[in-house]
Amino acid sequence: MQTMIEKVVHSDPVETAEKPHELSLRVTDLCKTYITDKQSLNVLRNVNFSMRKGDFVSVMGPSGSGKSTLLYTVSGMDKPTSGDVEFFGQNIAKLGENKMADLRLNEMGFVFQQMHMLRNLSVFDNIILAAYHASVKVSASHRRDINEKAKALMRRFDIIDIMDKDITEVSGGQLQRACLCRALINDPKMIFADEPTGSLNSKAAAEVMDKLNTLNREGATILLVTHDIKVAARTDKTLYIVDGNIQGELELGKYGDTGEAKTREKNLSNWLVNMGW
Ligand SMILES: Nc1ncnc2c1ncn2[C@@H]1O[C@H](COP(=O)(O)OP(=O)(O)OP(=O)(O)O)[C@@H](O)[C@H]1O
Ligand SMILES: [Mg+2]
Repeated sequence: MQTMIEKVVHSDPVETAEKPHELSLRVTDLCKTYITDKQSLNVLRNVNFSMRKGDFVSVMGPSGSGKSTLLYTVSGMDKPTSGDVEFFGQNIAKLGENKMADLRLNEMGFVFQQMHMLRNLSVFDNIILAAYHASVKVSASHRRDINEKAKALMRRFDIIDIMDKDITEVSGGQLQRACLCRALINDPKMIFADEPTGSLNSKAAAEVMDKLNTLNREGATILLVTHDIKVAARTDKTLYIVDGNIQGELELGKYGDTGEAKTREKNLSNWLVNMGW
């Protein structure tokens, strides 16, 4: 699909103004080198891929292959050593720290395995914090709007009953759904998730995936890292990364209903075995 879009852009000048904006992310020759104790480690080596708006893409690969680094680098949490990252048409690879922080807060949503929730706050307070923070001035009515929006999200994700609980008092699955609410509170253009189901049992993982699939069906663009075939089988496309390089991709298409899960898992599993997983 990527090549198709690029073909249109190059061959039809009338379309040039429109087509690039269909891309949510375009990653070009991305490299990341960590320097530690005078040693340099090339963790990402010339990574190239792109996503359109509304895509749901997963990244798989062995431990240490650079999946998290890729996610952090394309979402501006870490600076690339070289290469470009265009986020909805804007090159963010060299964006200043303040602008990048604004962009992350207002246009990106993050869900991680280590959820970085604040322990002395309730589930509800953790969710609204980012929205309060994003607003230059929070008036009483704006605060009411944020609170209502947080409650609506919590209702959708079936965690309204635990809104006043301390985050230490709820289950992993509930907490992970709270993380999703928090990621969505500022209406991000894109969601980045690093093993969002990694700490969950299979039932809770399936619940989180149900929510992500629903959000994606409604138009959300999602990039997710996972070790779990069941999770990746519910995304449109899987990228396989080894030693900081994308070795291949498998397009499964949109996940429709649970009836097709087994076939998708089998196809993905066969492909992964071929990839050397
Ligand atoms: N801040 C850092 N400084 C130095 N090296 C790092 C840093 N972050 C990651 N690395 C190294 O980069 C490599 C890739 O790490 P990364 O966390 O991206 O792997 P991963 O594919 O997400 O692995 P896992 O599946 O275990 O989560 C590893 O060798 C890791 O030790
Ligand atoms: Mg990782």
